[in-house]
Amino acid sequence: MKRRELLLSGGAAIGAVGLGGLAIASNSSDQELVVQSASYMFRDQPTQGMVSLSPDAPPPVLFGRQGEAMRLTVKNTLSDYTSMHWHGMRIRNDMDGVPYLTQMPLGQNESFTYEFTPPDAGTYWYHPHCMTMEQMAHGLTGVMVIAEPEDVGFDSEQVINLRDFRLDETGAFLPAYTQRGAARAGTFGNVQTANWYQHPIYDHSAGSLVRLRLLNSDTTRIYKLHLTGGNAQIIAWDGHPVTAELPMPSADDPLLVGPGQRVDFAVAMPDGEGAQVDLMAKLPGQPMRTMASLRSVGQSAHRDLRELKPLPKNPVALPDLGKAQVHEFVFGWTPEGELPDNGFCGSLGYNFWSINRVPWPGDAAADVGPLATLELGKSYVLRLRNESPNLHPIHLHGLVFVPLRSNLRELPPLVTDTMLLLKDEVVEIGLVADNPGDWAFHCHVIEHQKTGLTGFLRVV
Ligand code: C2O
Ligand code: CU
Ligand code: CU
Repeated sequence: MKRRELLLSGGAAIGAVGLGGLAIASNSSDQELVVQSASYMFRDQPTQGMVSLSPDAPPPVLFGRQGEAMRLTVKNTLSDYTSMHWHGMRIRNDMDGVPYLTQMPLGQNESFTYEFTPPDAGTYWYHPHCMTMEQMAHGLTGVMVIAEPEDVGFDSEQVINLRDFRLDETGAFLPAYTQRGAARAGTFGNVQTANWYQHPIYDHSAGSLVRLRLLNSDTTRIYKLHLTGGNAQIIAWDGHPVTAELPMPSADDPLLVGPGQRVDFAVAMPDGEGAQVDLMAKLPGQPMRTMASLRSVGQSAHRDLRELKPLPKNPVALPDLGKAQVHEFVFGWTPEGELPDNGFCGSLGYNFWSINRVPWPGDAAADVGPLATLELGKSYVLRLRNESPNLHPIHLHGLVFVPLRSNLRELPPLVTDTMLLLKDEVVEIGLVADNPGDWAFHCHVIEHQKTGLTGFLRVV
């Protein structure tokens, strides 16, 4: 009967789980976001010292629509400074939320109104870019859903924000970073969550088509994921529609989703009432873990993935590779450097990483030039070389790019803002420098970002 039941909220978490964890602002295009301290029950006692946009729940999913203006006023009530970044959104540089580069950090009781019109539909996210380590590790990461102008044919949507917390047995925070971790793959959390729940179960109509929007907002972990129990298809990557048919990940061949990356799946819910689609993760040294489940309820709607049309393309300019100039970037350890000058935005107190052998001198350091200057409207190839044994999700603000080739693997044709570089990998990416400004360019393992693996590209 009624197919579009508009479970836009992503369905209800049920059973022991409750709905409270995924507050959805139904019209979030004009609102105030109050950065505040929060507490939350992960264990028997509440975890204090969390950071969110409400006192006791995760940061809400923010909804916008492609081509429609959004106005988000961020108010900081913490004693620490902050700023907010809209990851993946190709918006004006002065709305990008990078302290000292595009705006001054926000002190206690200061506000900043971010106004932008999302040019692209898809799954994006938001997080602070000042006191990034502390505030992200303590909770402040949220999903942004930018809807296509027209209905794209799903019965419901499910947003899942994957991330870890690092807690002791009483639920108190352990230090979010360690020297040992920062110099290697990062410091891992020990409580794996989906929307802050450990294995939530979300109800969706049996036989319906669900758009599953997945974000890895962890500060460190590269998630290895696959789905079991239903037919599914990858339809978007880092916000943008996928044009090629990508193989579905499996237990033996899981999907690597790095910090900052998003994947949208079209999921056909099983026909049988009570049957589940499970999101599985392989964590080192642990049995396969179910991160979240979608459960079929009611009579089957008998829908089929083949009923879906491809998602409409976003207005992304593709590079003219024949004319593209090449810039090289080497990501590796750093020769000794000065301690970073991060101003009010939090330093870990050491440097381990560098781009082109120079560690980032700090967010607030004076006279820092761009890693490269790109001419507005021109095409470029960026050659990204990882000379370290650790993986790096390399993220570029304000622009999107296409991965072109790798020395280690076939790269599917994607449009993306974050490239996960494997050990010893060299990847070339192509882009059109069509958004003017100073765009941060950094590893999204926050301990790498904050200990030197940061820089920016200038588009003029
Ligand atoms: Cu999501 Cu500069 O980051
Ligand atoms: Cu970003
Ligand atoms: Cu890194």
